[in-house]
Amino acid sequence: MSLGWSLGRIAARLGKLVGAGDAGVDGVTTDSRTAGAGDLFVAIAGDTYDGHDFAEQAIAAGAVGAIVAPGRSEVEPRIEVPATGDALLELAAMRREELTVPVLAVTGSTGKTTTKDMLASAIPGAWASPASYNNEIGVPLTVLQTPSTARALIVEMGSRGRGHLAWLMPAVRPDVAVITNLGVVHLETFGDIATLADAKWEVVEGLTDRGVAVLPADEPRLQRDHPGVTHTFGVNTTADVVARDVTFGVDGCSRFTLDTPVGERSIALQMPGVHQPSNAAAAAAAALAIGGDLDEIGRGLAAATGSRWRMEFHRGRFTVVNDAYNANPTSVEAALRTVAELPGRPIAVLGLMAELGGISAGEHTRMGELAAALGYAAVIVVGEDPGLASGAGAIARSVASADDALELVAGLVREGDTVLVKASRAVGLERLAETLVELSVSRSGSAA
Ligand SMILES: Nc1ncnc2c1ncn2[C@@H]1O[C@H](COP(=O)(O)OP(=O)(O)O)[C@@H](O)[C@H]1O
Ligand SMILES: [Mg+2]
Repeated sequence: MSLGWSLGRIAARLGKLVGAGDAGVDGVTTDSRTAGAGDLFVAIAGDTYDGHDFAEQAIAAGAVGAIVAPGRSEVEPRIEVPATGDALLELAAMRREELTVPVLAVTGSTGKTTTKDMLASAIPGAWASPASYNNEIGVPLTVLQTPSTARALIVEMGSRGRGHLAWLMPAVRPDVAVITNLGVVHLETFGDIATLADAKWEVVEGLTDRGVAVLPADEPRLQRDHPGVTHTFGVNTTADVVARDVTFGVDGCSRFTLDTPVGERSIALQMPGVHQPSNAAAAAAAALAIGGDLDEIGRGLAAATGSRWRMEFHRGRFTVVNDAYNANPTSVEAALRTVAELPGRPIAVLGLMAELGGISAGEHTRMGELAAALGYAAVIVVGEDPGLASGAGAIARSVASADDALELVAGLVREGDTVLVKASRAVGLERLAETLVELSVSRSGSAA
């Protein structure tokens, strides 16, 4: 980062300066451990730590000043502001105003990180959110860290309810806003799907003048008017950008024809999942919206690789699909359908989908029913279960722990089968998935 700002200039916009204000500010950090020369430290009070306790440390490490709440730190130089979180967003807004390259925002219930990664691959030279930096800290830091050489900025944006994105939008002000989908995710937070749609729509309301909204063609709740332009995307449907003739390989990766207003390309993805053609179409539509070259987009999509823990395929004597990182009805459905597409018998080890509120029982039952309808050989349900087993019926086996699940899978898995491991993070099935991978490569002799 090389912001080229001064403390005095920032104070003039944000609050009251205490101490000398002529120091140059080249970067912004909220983490005292990574603070260095030229950085401005912003003290954020989190759940576990309060940044105000680390302001001294940041200055000692070379930070040129700190943004703090009044009365919370005596460190100098400091800029006192009523709310340090708002100040961080305001700093990002300052940076945003300086940017002349296209800015793209990606939100939605699922697929944000994947679509962001695909988009980053489709726009060479773009700066994109590191990991899942998508909240009120990660979003402004992403914007602030944009290198001056970036060809575009891609920001992943999460939403925790009405008003959340609206609060973040001035820091991003995208020229292109993507909503990947609306799904049954965190409905406990949103209440109902209409509120969820309104909450995501805030990204469109935050567009620059004549900005482009990239929206799923098949989502009626997002068919709304706005002052800018809408480009739609979809799979096997009518849209501006469509993935059609989708087929899947044994590794769960898709091939399809990408149909766009400027031509067609054949695409083979490296990221497994039945949901990936949709994410790729969204990414392609967004890249085209900023004038991307279709060949470059096609190459970028084909080269994109996923982040850890998202449907990791491990092929041994049997295949393990480790998707233990998170689970909600949309992503469980995508994973169940992906694994059912593969050769060999599909087996699912499933656990609780957290944060579903009043629809929890119904959605767990629906997932169990889906597994049965897709022809799963077994559904092993680990721990708390609002309805998976009852939905899956005869193929369900309920166990108390991951160890019990391991024993059961080891006993019933055959060569060529695929075992999907999926639950909310809190259920902790990552270890089980890893042990199953070891089992799949270590087992000798032919399985039954
Ligand atoms: N378009 C999609 N439709 C349904 N499920 C999806 C889609 N994209 C991703 N998923 C599921 O959501 C999980 C998380 O994907 P990710 O890209 O990290 O989403 P996010 O950043 O929105 O949390 C994936 O492992 C997959 O199971
Ligand atoms: Mg994410």
